[in-house]
Amino acid sequence: MLSSLIDVLVACALIPAVQSTAIPRSSRLLNRGNIEQAVITPQGFPVPNPTESYWQVPEHRIANLRSTEELPTDHTFDYVIIGSGVSGAAIAMKLLDRNPELSVLMLEARKAASGASGRNGGHCRPGMWKSIKTWTEKYGEDEAVRLQKMEQDCVNDVRDFVRTNNVSSGFQDVETADLYWTKEAFDNAVKVWGFQQELEQRRPDEVAKNNRTVYSGQAARDYWGWPEILGAITFYASTQNPYLTVCAILERALKHDLNLQTNTLALNLKQLPNPAANGAKWTVTTDRGTVQAKQVVLATNGFTNAIHPGFASTGYITPDRSQVAAVHPSAETSNNTVFQRSASYPDLHSGNNYIVVRAPGDLGEGDVIYGGGKQFSPTREMGITDDSVINEDIALHLHRVGRTVYGYKNWGETTTVLKDWTGITCVSKDGLPVIGAVPGEDGLWAQVCMNGHGMAWAFRSAEALVQMMEVGEKPEWFPRAFDIERAFE
Ligand SMILES: Cc1cc2nc3c(=O)[nH]c(=O)nc-3n(C[C@H](O)[C@H](O)[C@H](O)COP(=O)(O)OP(=O)(O)OC[C@H]3O[C@@H](n4cnc5c(N)ncnc54)[C@H](O)[C@@H]3O)c2cc1C
Ligand SMILES: *[C@@H]1O[C@H](CO)[C@@H](O)[C@H](O)[C@H]1NC(C)=O
Ligand SMILES: *[C@@H]1O[C@H](CO)[C@@H](O)[C@H](O)[C@H]1NC(C)=O
Ligand SMILES: *[C@@H]1O[C@H](CO)[C@@H](O)[C@H](O)[C@H]1NC(C)=O
Repeated sequence: MLSSLIDVLVACALIPAVQSTAIPRSSRLLNRGNIEQAVITPQGFPVPNPTESYWQVPEHRIANLRSTEELPTDHTFDYVIIGSGVSGAAIAMKLLDRNPELSVLMLEARKAASGASGRNGGHCRPGMWKSIKTWTEKYGEDEAVRLQKMEQDCVNDVRDFVRTNNVSSGFQDVETADLYWTKEAFDNAVKVWGFQQELEQRRPDEVAKNNRTVYSGQAARDYWGWPEILGAITFYASTQNPYLTVCAILERALKHDLNLQTNTLALNLKQLPNPAANGAKWTVTTDRGTVQAKQVVLATNGFTNAIHPGFASTGYITPDRSQVAAVHPSAETSNNTVFQRSASYPDLHSGNNYIVVRAPGDLGEGDVIYGGGKQFSPTREMGITDDSVINEDIALHLHRVGRTVYGYKNWGETTTVLKDWTGITCVSKDGLPVIGAVPGEDGLWAQVCMNGHGMAWAFRSAEALVQMMEVGEKPEWFPRAFDIERAFE
């Protein structure tokens, strides 16, 4: 088991392998419990008392909504969706937008959008474009282009949703960059950029458009304002309060009579041996009673293995815990362009740190949302489904690192820590989401395991899943690399 976890670690592009010598001895001792937990509970259900994220204050009016006081156990629903994150919310909304006559029930173990979607880093960022070369080698050029375009289109779709529906979730377009301290990593990134430029020139109508610019050496330090970087590749991304965006998606589904049942834990699924006369094929047992459905959708991300042991037995998807801190620099941030951008840096032994800054005019202007730091945990937080605690070593890193990377001149002398929180993410063996009809189980569907990148993948994946469920076919633009079959092979 442990060795298969290590396989996942090594295979996962999001978590670069880091030498364990970089880990302070104290954290090795402190985190020993996690190693055991990684083996014992890779299938945990959501815990009842998660940490509270920066985004979840104040609580949204639908946080504890139960559309009907009693769990509707008498009705056979067309769909029961398990999970109220961006996946479940977008699936519900898109189903009901397409056909308002459908009866849809959503079960959520905790408060609305209390999973990763309500507690992430706030990026809605087409940052996977840089996998284009790897994807081309692995899947061929057409599929690589499809994968890349899907992500950019997804970000654009979320922006369209937010704008069209006047959602006040602070959705902003910002300049972003991948930043490099090491020559090897930067040289490699520039090669990928060159590969992308060539592709754009050759297939201008198909390749995802963004404005990606390389800055090298002093030009990078001058342009970006960080004192020690060796290079930057800039492009455009969006930032948002993800909790408010997802609650707005849920509210639109609620207008079409979605029945939302928060604080209701789904414990198991059963396929009826023979479909009932009313079409019921599935029962879902919860801690409040049993509901019936023609079709069931798993939108359970890092908690999927618990509700579906068949999934767990594939070993294809593994939960992990991610952590974020909200901090505020002591320097004035208002008129300093370095605090109007977002960033991510894959090297500097960071475990892939990323930064979102609350935009001018937003609540919390100049607050810096800092995620990553997984290398400070010996297990890299793999196999953990408990988001009620934070890892103190990771927290310490996230509190301090901003002043180092931005430089004292930009940041000032001190840092105010506003909040620390964690959330459960999900890692698949190839780093891509798992979407489609669960093989061999008539009427069971899944959109799970967003690999810590769901804000740029899930909304459009939901569009594809809804077409599969309601039309019976996959859209042409849907990346076949997301197909669920690969998890069960
Ligand atoms: C700390 C952190 C930082 C991140 N940063 C970013 C970022 O900046 N950008 C980005 O794109 N992505 C980021 N991510 C990842 C992103 O948040 C996820 O990929 C995305 O939210 C997944 O959405 P989802 O709806 O598929 O799953 P989730 O939002 O996790 O929703 C799953 C829901 O299912 C519920 N559930 C599970 N099992 C059951 C059950 N048995 N019964 C009832 N309910 C159940 C859970 O309670 C949960 O609400 C981050 C994640 C974390 C945790
Ligand atoms: C959004 O706001 C605009 C301008 O105020 C308005 O015309 C439009 O109807 C609003 N849309 C929704 C969905 O509320
Ligand atoms: C592209 O981005 C650069 C900044 O990196 C900016 O100077 C330039 O104006 C942008 N070009 C377009 C067409 O948006
Ligand atoms: C920022 O710049 C604007 C415009 O120049 C100015 O009006 C404002 O006072 C500045 N804010 C701060 C905090 O310096």
